[in-house]
Amino acid sequence: MRVMRRPITRAETARANRAWWDGAADDYQREHGEFLRDAGFIWCPEGLDEAEARLLGDVAGRRVLEVGCGAGQCGRWLTGQGATVVGVDLSYRQLQHSRRIDLATGARLPVVQGDAEFLPFRDESFDLACSAYGALPFVADAGAVLREVRRVLKPGGRFVFSVSHPIRWAFPDDPGPRGLTADRSYFDRTPYVECSADGVPTYAEHHRTMGDWVGLIVSAGLVLTGLIEPEWPDGHERIWGGWSPLRGRLIPGTAIFQCLRP
Ligand SMILES: C[S@@+](CC[C@H](N)C(=O)[O-])C[C@H]1O[C@@H](n2cnc3c(N)ncnc32)[C@H](O)[C@@H]1O
Repeated sequence: MRVMRRPITRAETARANRAWWDGAADDYQREHGEFLRDAGFIWCPEGLDEAEARLLGDVAGRRVLEVGCGAGQCGRWLTGQGATVVGVDLSYRQLQHSRRIDLATGARLPVVQGDAEFLPFRDESFDLACSAYGALPFVADAGAVLREVRRVLKPGGRFVFSVSHPIRWAFPDDPGPRGLTADRSYFDRTPYVECSADGVPTYAEHHRTMGDWVGLIVSAGLVLTGLIEPEWPDGHERIWGGWSPLRGRLIPGTAIFQCLRP
């Protein structure tokens, strides 16, 4: 595998990430499934739990879309709160894990395989949409996802989503001391790309600054109503990739945007 910062198209990104998540899904669920819980809504590696945070407000009786739902843990929790939820994800293998959990728990979450840049739902069909690190950190065109979410939300509907905090792009993705020294430009939007030995992209993430996110949200016709930077809680020692107590106590690791469709 070769790691680089280089341009990559929208189609290459989707192709690479679909295959990557299909290949990584088993390990991902093995490593993080217990922390996420079969029916639990964890917003981020900091462990912010929707059961306490209530960033979505009262969901009972609401029709909710979970974007980039993975194995559907968040959607299953919302269903338990009385919402009617549909999940969409690019990866068939992630959705098979959702089905596995359905069969084990008896709580069925309807899911659809699709790309968040082209949501397969009709206009104004949801009251709420949410995403915990689903799709938005990975897609080439985050504006397209935001426009699609706006389209499928009813007027007055809300979208809350978490992504890696943009400041993290200025630091090495290392949970240890090396990850504390900024060594690259925060303003460099060149995507992070992993390639096979013959140069074919196998994984991609796209960087947006905080200002870029605000601009994309506004351009999509949404109103930004809140921005949360969860603090690392005392006693939380779990490391998730580059997210660790060492770094989390010093710099933010997650940004959660709360948006409204007017
Ligand atoms: C970090 S996981 C988050 C899933 C879940 N919220 C969780 O915490 O496990 C990211 C998910 O986004 C999905 N994803 C990536 N790109 C996507 C796209 N373009 N459209 C829809 N889902 C996408 C991946 O397949 C993966 O399941």
